[in-house]
Amino acid sequence: MAEKNDRHKVAIIGAGGVGATTGYALMVQGIASEIVLIDINQEKAEGEAMDLMHGASFVPPVEVSAGDYSECEDADVVIITAGAKQAADETRLDLVKKNTEVFKQIVPSITEYTKDAILLVVTNPVDILTYVTLKLSGFPKNQVIGSGTVLDSSRFRSLISNHCEVAANNVHGYIIGEHGDSEVPVWSLTNIAGTPLDNYCPICDYNCEGELEGIGEEVKNSAYEIIEKKGATFYAVSLAVARIVRSILRDENSILTISSYMNGQYGIEDICLSLPTIVDSQGVEQVLNLPLNDNEEEAFVESAEKLKEIADTLEL
Ligand code: LAC
Repeated sequence: MAEKNDRHKVAIIGAGGVGATTGYALMVQGIASEIVLIDINQEKAEGEAMDLMHGASFVPPVEVSAGDYSECEDADVVIITAGAKQAADETRLDLVKKNTEVFKQIVPSITEYTKDAILLVVTNPVDILTYVTLKLSGFPKNQVIGSGTVLDSSRFRSLISNHCEVAANNVHGYIIGEHGDSEVPVWSLTNIAGTPLDNYCPICDYNCEGELEGIGEEVKNSAYEIIEKKGATFYAVSLAVARIVRSILRDENSILTISSYMNGQYGIEDICLSLPTIVDSQGVEQVLNLPLNDNEEEAFVESAEKLKEIADTLEL
């Protein structure tokens, strides 16, 4: 049996498409040694845990089970995926009232058992619900984070990769702000192999027809398009969540655009938004104030002001 300090336990609140697929992603990548699914529908949680556990012989050692909130007591990370999901004719922000009410039940149920776990919010609207979780839990600001635009940044990189015909891991670029309609692609800092796009395009042999700018819109509209076609998204967001959990459990100091509490970045305070952040075993190590250009900073501030207005209407 691995030493206790080598064991990493993750509790996932919500055993729906995102929660179960997140469990699968953590399991296949060997990121957690114990995964517990917690859902108001106990049967569903048990069924998902059984289905996952039956694959245990194919992946690194892991225990997967279903349980209740008491399982949060010794969890290193508690992932919150429960709540109403976005319908085809809804924006993520349309979910704010009903999911805030759900969180008023979930968060106290978690904090009854743990004061130490990192809380990782995935439920949409993720930035506002990260803020709601921070307020309801009373946890230190570094300990409450959201998946934010980690998924959007991956979509951004993969679409640029596809357009420029280079591997996605050689494309560096960020989407910041809201995980939603006001998100901001940071073109000024996007680079391929360390070369800013303005300098890369002239040396690229691939004479692309289309302009790259349309990729920002394509990323923003991705979820709507996928929801229209298959009813929900869960694979890429679960991989994004697993990526964040890996940086926490392995104390990686990876830079990821998670959502966290703003305390003065670009003059923004008292709301949660996504910026490139150093993520370690304590959650937020440092939110980076990257040198945005004027348009990007203005768009980020507008995004923040919109979310603050909505957050101010919530009775927490
Ligand atoms: C998406 C959901 C997770 O963007 O908001 O796919």
